[in-house]
Amino acid sequence: MKFFVDTAEIEPIRELAATGLLDGVTTNPSLIAKSGRDFMEVTREICGIVDGPVSAEVVALDHATMMKEAEVLRKIADNVCIKVPLTVDGLKTCKALTGEGTMVNVTLCFSANQALLAAKAGATFISPFVGRHDDNGVDGMDLIEDIRLIYDNYAFETEILVASVRHVTHVLQAAKIGADVMTAPPKVIHDLFKHVLTDKGIEGFMADWAKTGQSIL
Ligand code: E4P
Repeated sequence: MKFFVDTAEIEPIRELAATGLLDGVTTNPSLIAKSGRDFMEVTREICGIVDGPVSAEVVALDHATMMKEAEVLRKIADNVCIKVPLTVDGLKTCKALTGEGTMVNVTLCFSANQALLAAKAGATFISPFVGRHDDNGVDGMDLIEDIRLIYDNYAFETEILVASVRHVTHVLQAAKIGADVMTAPPKVIHDLFKHVLTDKGIEGFMADWAKTGQSIL
């Protein structure tokens, strides 16, 4: 499963990219606002740090203006992936852009039928939001299972990008279902490394090693 980080903050992206385990970045208008940075400038900077897809979202709601915005955004770098909302205009834009060889991430997906439409529109990625479903008392992971089943039934190549990930259990469930990608805030990705028994084990090994009085270097 590919790991994308869901942020527009440069330092956490640099830190995760340095692990060699980061496959891409997702941003959205809220994350850009939170960063306080200029959209074009911060997107350019992120594209220079990560080789994989960097999602940059259009903000127009009509197809013609979405295409104009996408034209500006895709010139930023070769690894820009245009993010469009799951609307009629968004999917028209998706179809047109992917037809021209541009990567498209269809966002704000909350149903398996929406995901089916996005695949038919040739989306590179579909972003079902699991956390926002959970917030409303619906198990977001059921949606991922349904989309996996439908995409496998028809051998759609659209990658399932699990979004709105809130904790490490979401990541585990996404991997068990066979999602292609997950995007999570930096903290969740850092949490994946942690286990109390790993810390305890290191502590024990270090204490015993000290007793030997030896050194490797
Ligand atoms: C990513 O592409 C989405 O915009 C993001 O995961 C949404 O997460 P949120 O529901 O925590 O805002």
